[in-house]
Amino acid sequence: MTDVATSAPLGSQDTGIVHVVGARPNFVKAAPVVSALRGRGAHQSVVHTGQHYDDRMSAVFFRDLGLPTPDVDLGVGSGSHAAQTAALMVGLEKEFTERRPGMVVVYGDVNSTVAAALVAAKLCVPVAHVEAGLRSFDNTMPEEVNRRVTDQLSDLCFATSPEAIGHLAAEGVPTDRVHLVGNPMIDTLLANLDRFDADALRTRLDLPERYVAATLHRPANVDDPDTAALLAKRLHEIADQVDVVMPVHPRGKAAFERAGLGDHPRVHLLEPLGYLDFVALVRGSAAVVTDSGGVQEETTILGVPCLTLRPNTERPVTITHGTNQLVTEADLLQTVTKVLHGQTPERVGSAPPLWDGHAGERIATILTQWSR
Ligand code: UD1
Ligand code: UDP
Repeated sequence: MTDVATSAPLGSQDTGIVHVVGARPNFVKAAPVVSALRGRGAHQSVVHTGQHYDDRMSAVFFRDLGLPTPDVDLGVGSGSHAAQTAALMVGLEKEFTERRPGMVVVYGDVNSTVAAALVAAKLCVPVAHVEAGLRSFDNTMPEEVNRRVTDQLSDLCFATSPEAIGHLAAEGVPTDRVHLVGNPMIDTLLANLDRFDADALRTRLDLPERYVAATLHRPANVDDPDTAALLAKRLHEIADQVDVVMPVHPRGKAAFERAGLGDHPRVHLLEPLGYLDFVALVRGSAAVVTDSGGVQEETTILGVPCLTLRPNTERPVTITHGTNQLVTEADLLQTVTKVLHGQTPERVGSAPPLWDGHAGERIATILTQWSR
């Protein structure tokens, strides 16, 4: 260790707003905020941590969404939680010290999010958290830890749904930091609705007319080989009824391969899809089986039945206002069968409040007012 740790402010000189992104869902959430700030002539830059690095997990999103090429890619890559978070912090500290941001904007709940918030807070750089206040109340999820810590460190908490406001209040976050702004992931969805062509995708990938789309990557579902094997068995049972199309997240690839998931003739395993192709796949599906956070929200707006293979969700509005229902491995087949026969639970008829395509604009307004 050569440097003495300080938590002194970086100084009055600053280079505007720095967006920190690193993993697949971050890119989808950042796109409308970057775009809205660009429209206001804000001085901004994008730091990619490199948490996700495969073309299909990263670069394809920049191409699909018209995001500017990151000003820097820290190339941090994969590792255990401690190793990855530490590497993220070291890279970001150097970057912020050189770049001197006036504000750091972080997205969602991944390790890049919490690392950036920690580093910025210790350099006395204000932090804005997009998608603040979501809680699963399940501390076995690494994301829940990341959410709580990030929100405590944030000067601005941008909430996507009303219950987040109560969660933040209960944790002592002052109300003047909290703004209900809507959902930037839904901004991206609505802005690209004309580009999700399910028929073209079906033809290009030679997919059947009727299928269930699946995507799974939570540690609780894919890290333990026995659990992955059980889920592969359940997906085979579904495939006995209807084709299953699954773009496979790299985290679960080896476990699902070992479990023989692709051995069923009606299970179609794909590489991870780019954003436009993936949402087209979802849009054209009879139902989705997932553990993704973002997909619960996207299906809510697309009206596609969503079966979430988790014991809880930090996104309950997708159940009350959307098409989402929580399922276990044991009731998955029965629930899919019901959904395929048109039996879906009652729900509120309207989209969650402010999921209207303008969250990025609201965030940009608050960010520019705040930094004046
Ligand atoms: C991360 C987030 C999770 C988010 C998910 C979105 C954390 C703690 N988890 O999970 O909240 O839902 O991203 O997809 O931040 N890998 C590749 N290529 C890549 C990236 C990853 O092969 O481009 C493989 C590596 O083997 C790596 C593993 O995937 O070890 C997991 O990657 P990591 O970023 O640590 O976590 P995710 O499971 O992707
Ligand atoms: N997504 C994608 N390709 C895929 C799977 C997901 O483009 O093969 C998109 C999805 O539409 C959503 C985002 O990635 O916009 C969600 O990312 P992910 O499920 O990896 O993370 P989570 O939302 O669970 O944190």
